[in-house]
Amino acid sequence: MAEKGISQAVISRLPRYYRYLKELKDSGKERISSQELSRIMKVTASQIRQDFNNFGGFGQQGYGYNTTYLYDEIGKILGLDHQHNMVLVGAGNLGQALVKYLKFKKSGFNFVCAFDINPQLFNQTVGGVPIRPISQLRSYVDENDVDIVVLTIPKSEAREIAHSLTDTKIKAIWNFAHIDLELPPHIQVENVHLQDSLMRLSYNIHKNEN
Ligand code: NAI
Repeated sequence: MAEKGISQAVISRLPRYYRYLKELKDSGKERISSQELSRIMKVTASQIRQDFNNFGGFGQQGYGYNTTYLYDEIGKILGLDHQHNMVLVGAGNLGQALVKYLKFKKSGFNFVCAFDINPQLFNQTVGGVPIRPISQLRSYVDENDVDIVVLTIPKSEAREIAHSLTDTKIKAIWNFAHIDLELPPHIQVENVHLQDSLMRLSYNIHKNEN
């Protein structure tokens, strides 16, 4: 499969294909043409074919793609055939909501432990996941199989914690703190800023007012 040098734009569209294909597969749809997928997803059929050609085209026959095969293959490209162990840093409102969201686990993203600085949270659990003192984060990461660290702490704390983990085996940081993290290339960073999405929404609400 020719996966080298694939643009981030293509990669960023894969989760959406994956979501739609799951619904199609679950509804019993066995095959789908790029035209049909195009209609459902409101993307051009040529965009779909171009995207899929980056990965060898997924063997489209005259009568379309095999839905389950396409779903499985896109899942593999996204690495969803692997289990990812995650630790949470910052078991506040946002952090607890993420840990409690069960669908992450179903997709192989498994919270194994949470850490916080607030002693009132120590020895408690959230969604069945234990909350430990932040002072134990480093030893936990060293002794356990942790792939992803999820940061839901104030931005003033995030850089120091992220940097303290650069010489561990973690592979990625899912960063909700409002700060840009500059980390060595062996650690992937995915920043999530819900407010950016709201600002885009706000722009679209008001764009015709001026
Ligand atoms: P919160 O105050 O409910 O939770 C923050 C938690 O982090 C608290 O439990 C606190 O004790 C803990 N904490 C603080 N310093 C720590 C440290 N050094 N080590 C470990 N734990 C520490 O706040 P909330 O609402 O959960 O938000 C958390 C962060 O996420 C905030 O910085 C907020 O700005 C950000 N945020 C980001 C969003 C996004 O879309 N990126 C959306 C909402 C919040």
